[in-house]
Amino acid sequence: MILNTELEYKGNLFPADITDYKKDVDVLHFSTSNNIILQLTVLRDSLLRFRYTTVGKFDNDFSYAINEDASRGYNHLEITDDDKKYIVTTSKLICHIHKADLRKSIFDAKDHTLICEDELGFHWEESYELGGDIVKMSKAAQNGESYYGLGDKPQHINLKGRRFENWATDSYAFGKDTDPIYKAIPFYTGLHHGKSYGIFFDNTFKTFFDFCQERRNVTSFWAQGGEMNYYFIYGPKMQDVVTSYTDLTGTPELPPLWALGYHQCKWSYYPESNVKEITNKFRELKIPCDAIYLDIDYMEGFRCFTWSKDHFPEPKRMVKELADDGFKTVVIIDPGIKIDNAYSVFKEGLDKDYFCKRADGPYMKGKVWPGECYFPDFTRPEVREWWAGLFKELVEDIGVKGVWNDMNEPAVMDVPGKTFPADVRHDYDGNPCSHQKAHNIYGMQMARATYHGLKRFNYPKRPFVITRSAYSGTQRYTSTWMGDNVASWEHLQIANIQAQRLALSGFSFAGSDIGGFAEQPNGELYARWIQLGAFHPFCRTHSSGDHGDQEPWAFDEEITNVVRKFIEIRYELLPYLYTAFYQYAHDNVPMLKSLVLFDQEDSQTHYRTDEFICGNQLLICPINEPNSQGRRMYIPKGEWYNFWTKELVSGGKEAWVEADLDSMPIFVKAGAIIPKYPVQQYVGEKDIEELTLDVYYKNGKEDSELYEDANDGYDYTKGRYSLKKFNLAGTDDKLIIRIHKRGKYMTSYSTFKINLFGLPFKVASIKVDNEYVDLKDVKFNGANTLVISKEFTNLQIKA
Ligand code: GLC
Repeated sequence: MILNTELEYKGNLFPADITDYKKDVDVLHFSTSNNIILQLTVLRDSLLRFRYTTVGKFDNDFSYAINEDASRGYNHLEITDDDKKYIVTTSKLICHIHKADLRKSIFDAKDHTLICEDELGFHWEESYELGGDIVKMSKAAQNGESYYGLGDKPQHINLKGRRFENWATDSYAFGKDTDPIYKAIPFYTGLHHGKSYGIFFDNTFKTFFDFCQERRNVTSFWAQGGEMNYYFIYGPKMQDVVTSYTDLTGTPELPPLWALGYHQCKWSYYPESNVKEITNKFRELKIPCDAIYLDIDYMEGFRCFTWSKDHFPEPKRMVKELADDGFKTVVIIDPGIKIDNAYSVFKEGLDKDYFCKRADGPYMKGKVWPGECYFPDFTRPEVREWWAGLFKELVEDIGVKGVWNDMNEPAVMDVPGKTFPADVRHDYDGNPCSHQKAHNIYGMQMARATYHGLKRFNYPKRPFVITRSAYSGTQRYTSTWMGDNVASWEHLQIANIQAQRLALSGFSFAGSDIGGFAEQPNGELYARWIQLGAFHPFCRTHSSGDHGDQEPWAFDEEITNVVRKFIEIRYELLPYLYTAFYQYAHDNVPMLKSLVLFDQEDSQTHYRTDEFICGNQLLICPINEPNSQGRRMYIPKGEWYNFWTKELVSGGKEAWVEADLDSMPIFVKAGAIIPKYPVQQYVGEKDIEELTLDVYYKNGKEDSELYEDANDGYDYTKGRYSLKKFNLAGTDDKLIIRIHKRGKYMTSYSTFKINLFGLPFKVASIKVDNEYVDLKDVKFNGANTLVISKEFTNLQIKA
């Protein structure tokens, strides 16, 4: 390398002037006189990829994060230059690349607003210790810029003024400022001047992000190895940034509907009689529940894929009996395989050479629950294949419906780093590397292998996996939870932020350990937490079990009643939640929306942490403090109905909202049509004979959707689904609802119960598909309720 003193500053090295430019269809190469190459790929008009090399040649282009089916293609690409810069123009963006130093500035193509500009831009530091470059990027922070994303960091929703590290870490009883934690999701969104963009730094080494903490006007990110390789995603709407990132890194298939039900977990329910006692109690008390979890104690000495003969002598019979009662059994599987020559999984892994090794040969040995273990190298395709095959007995034979992957950061006990040493080798799908590079994707590849195992042996039923560790893209295979939180009011607030933040980082199917994992909630905290959890995509109570019970009846009757009430609301809302999941899986739309994502134009939303939108039309705000009879909250712009009182309020302001212990602030967007099923004790308990539509009148228009299918299986991929689009239009004296239906699925019901809320006029006539309805069939007491016993496409209600 030609070292020019101007190109070196405090140990950092910088690109020199551009001496060569080449275009290869959608890939542009810019080379500098000191041998740096920038490769710019135009993926879409609003999506650019920047890759840099300092050694004159790029490594094999391989990523676990990028979804093969991500959309590609653009409408317009033009490259020009002048004395100072190259100018790359698409229909959405203009990118300047400065000839003197390779720095870039990106503008909105329409109004030329500066969106994102390199400060120092790309620079690097040679690290002899790490054996590679520390690759760095710095950007000038724009006036009033805010930052969001980075997965589930337990911090304020707006990341400005903070620095973060991405290194998957077992973080038992983490707290508000703990960093790093279990996941590494190197994607953030910036927002300034009403416009939003995103940056996905697809580098699996330990990465850092600094949002104006070190220097007030600079945002930077760097990695302890690998390439400076990032995607720039333009909005200008934050919703579009998030959906593009989600498209790029993928979404899951639809889960079985039961996975959106309520789940009960504890470390651990055993023996069988204890499991049955719990499940029976749910049915006895009529608290809906769909899944029961077995934590590590179901195994024989914590050996994965075994059962404790004493505690679970006949797992197949038990799982079947639970299934007959509507409970799906989910079991934990950790990555550590106990070193024991009499244990077949260990023997086979050893014989086939599937375990991770240290750089100089020996197996990577580490202590976890079973004692000393070896760990499969999930970054090898044949190891993933083997792992998937191990689920045959559990799933096909015994009938387990879901698998919980834990400790997959990977966590190792009794060592300072809590994980593998850096020298451990991984295959990385044919790109051999050390643990420095594979660490952050280890858990992801484990969950991926588990997902394939469940899919293979449960087919045509849909798999259900839950993981603790994750990297970008992990959402394609599994749901997740946030790990070992604490039973405190502060953690209730953290859980809320974490779920929102994950959703805006492409990972919607997430929830916290309701009630807290470590320590013990009192009844009030548990009830308030269930209220929040009922509106999270994944809804599970879990606790360490050390401090007492954490089932809905573990407190007093008042609490049990509150818990039942909110779980029942969740079950009524299953078609609404499932539709939100469909919109996530199909349209890349996050299931939860922080207020900033919902309305970025309103600067009041940029720092709001507690309120969020579940789906598209329910505004939720948990109670975060003890002894509350309500709280102040921000109601975003627009018209909203109080879910309980049906009172209409105008947003764009803070308001006091009443919420005794059996209530919480919930609002429904005016014009929404909310689909509801009857309460069931588990999904599929009842044939749905009637669909309820709660119609919230609006003077104006609002669209709603309802997605349904067989709730499991893959027929929906062959067109057997039902997608109803509702267009509501209201005026002073009329309300019209049009329904457009798509798909070949026949729902089990053909009766619609329509509850009309907020009608400002007295109904004089009702027409269904152009035929008048006899008004004596309509109940007008309190809410206006109308029952229509056939499929219809047009409803007109007039004064
Ligand atoms: C870890 C998990 C926790 C689990 C426990 C025992 O702490 O995070 O959820 O219950 O291990 O398996």
